[in-house]
Amino acid sequence: MCGIVGYVGEKPAVPILMAGLQKLEYRGYDSAGIAVVDQEAIWVKKAMGKLAVLEDRLNGTRPDGVVGIGHTRWATHGRPSDENSHPHQDGRGDFAVVHNGIIENYLTIKQRLAAAGHVFASETDTEILAHLVEAYYDGNLEAAVQRVVSEITGSYAAAFICRHEPEKIVAVRKDSPLVIGLGQGENFLASDIPAILNHTRKTYVLTDGEMAVLTRDAVTVKSAATGAPVSKEIFEVKWDAVAAEKAGFDHFMLKEIFEQPKALRDTITGRLTPTGADLAALGLEPALLAQINQVAIVACGTAYHAGLVGKYIIEALARVPVVVDIASEFRYRNPMVNEQTLVVVVSQSGETADTLAALREAKRKGAKVLAVTNVVGSSVAREADAVFYTWAGPEIAVASTKAYTSQLVAMQILALSLAQVRQTLTPDAIGEIVAGLKRLPAQVAAVLAGTGTVKAISNRIKDWDNVFFIGRGVDYAVAMEGALKLKEISYIHAEAYAAGELKHGTLALITEHIPVITLATQEQVLEKTVSNVQEVRARGAYVIAVALAGNETVNEYADVVLTVPQTHPVLAPVLAVVPLQLLAYYSAVARDCDVDKPRNLAKSVTVE
Ligand code: M6R
Repeated sequence: MCGIVGYVGEKPAVPILMAGLQKLEYRGYDSAGIAVVDQEAIWVKKAMGKLAVLEDRLNGTRPDGVVGIGHTRWATHGRPSDENSHPHQDGRGDFAVVHNGIIENYLTIKQRLAAAGHVFASETDTEILAHLVEAYYDGNLEAAVQRVVSEITGSYAAAFICRHEPEKIVAVRKDSPLVIGLGQGENFLASDIPAILNHTRKTYVLTDGEMAVLTRDAVTVKSAATGAPVSKEIFEVKWDAVAAEKAGFDHFMLKEIFEQPKALRDTITGRLTPTGADLAALGLEPALLAQINQVAIVACGTAYHAGLVGKYIIEALARVPVVVDIASEFRYRNPMVNEQTLVVVVSQSGETADTLAALREAKRKGAKVLAVTNVVGSSVAREADAVFYTWAGPEIAVASTKAYTSQLVAMQILALSLAQVRQTLTPDAIGEIVAGLKRLPAQVAAVLAGTGTVKAISNRIKDWDNVFFIGRGVDYAVAMEGALKLKEISYIHAEAYAAGELKHGTLALITEHIPVITLATQEQVLEKTVSNVQEVRARGAYVIAVALAGNETVNEYADVVLTVPQTHPVLAPVLAVVPLQLLAYYSAVARDCDVDKPRNLAKSVTVE
């Protein structure tokens, strides 16, 4: 949700900032802008629209300044426009600031500043930061920023430059990510690692309440509240810059769909023993797992859907009651969790504001929190009691795919761990699931090897305004993810229903040829699902079924069957979702949508 870059060094800043923004565009793409200190003045260029518009506008007007900041925006306060784009400046043009997050008390501050004569050029909350720093500046940018921070509430990652101190950037963070990159004679700042990976692998993450002062030769970190120095441990990024590139695929989303076999293999590796899940790999005491009486899974969007799958699997294997909550609901409903609840927060980015707030609420109530996240050192990883990293690698496309299937594997391994500790499964049953988990990467690769039928169906789906997804049990949870993928990137309205629920109202919407995508991987409810398929077929629906190989029953009743390899029922979601991801992808391409950057969305949602 908004991307920030910063550069201090010896080279012209503009190309470095633009290249960094290009890597961060997935975080927001309503508008973009850069500011560079140039000959003791601040030069700013910004434009509504994607980065390409800014690139066009820059033609022939690039200053040589070696210190600068940049921003790519996902609008919160104020519609996308040139004026509302960042960086923002004070009235005199002495400062420039970029910001990610929301300043909650901006209106009161804005009114006060306006009464004192400040004139505002935008509708944003961010602009008050530039005017405040102007008001507090008396020759020391750090001190002025500290005063600003002491006054604002809300969430922010922000970076300031000042024409009177042309050699530095001052950055602060609270509830929005900021990474520092350390180079030789140059230093970097960014919302995410891919933006700096072409320059350095030496990084560390700022934590809440910290302020970083970047100059060419050093980065110092202090407490923004007290100014006390903070020492940081350098983290060497292991993954390759290529992992954050498209590598010949048309879109990041397609590349990431095809990376799933590796993502799953990496996530499973080291988590299994010959006789089950490796309990040590979970980072939670077996005694704790044995004594909990409830699991609460909290997440947003696709991660929430992974949690729904987790509920079915944990309850089936470990016989512990599981509640699943949308994080933005959980945090405000005085949730019933306590010392005997294991709260599992699931977040690809580890920075989703609602999920982070839910984690804090759970901890406040005494629950133990396990974070399932894809980003090392992210906020949820740091604040949870234990972390299960999904090793999916960087996920750039806004639509989550490989992170989701890796989260499903995390749920399966958690369920297995709980089952082992609570002795709810026989060794044979555990062995069967372990063997199935190990087969999953190759099975996903097999599904990906045949995309022809999915492409053909997408050509038919693309012309529909409404599509239904149905399923029973864990298939219902997968249906929800299939529907979200389709609406998110192709803008086709899609809804998921528990198959048995259709006849309680929604069946009225089933008309001649309307596509009904049926998940039918669960043997124990297969006959019931088939009955529901017949009900929609009788009303003229065009039924596309996703079924396990060898399932002849569904073949008879569906118009098209997308088969995935045979597996254990609790592992089936990992395979069943892959055709749905591809269906969404190819439908979006056929409708000429911007697959990687769907309208109105952003990758990492760091505001409420
Ligand atoms: O980073 P997180 O997993 O916390 O993000 C949660 C959701 O915003 C995210 O899954 C979103 O729903 C995806 N765009 C869906 O593809």
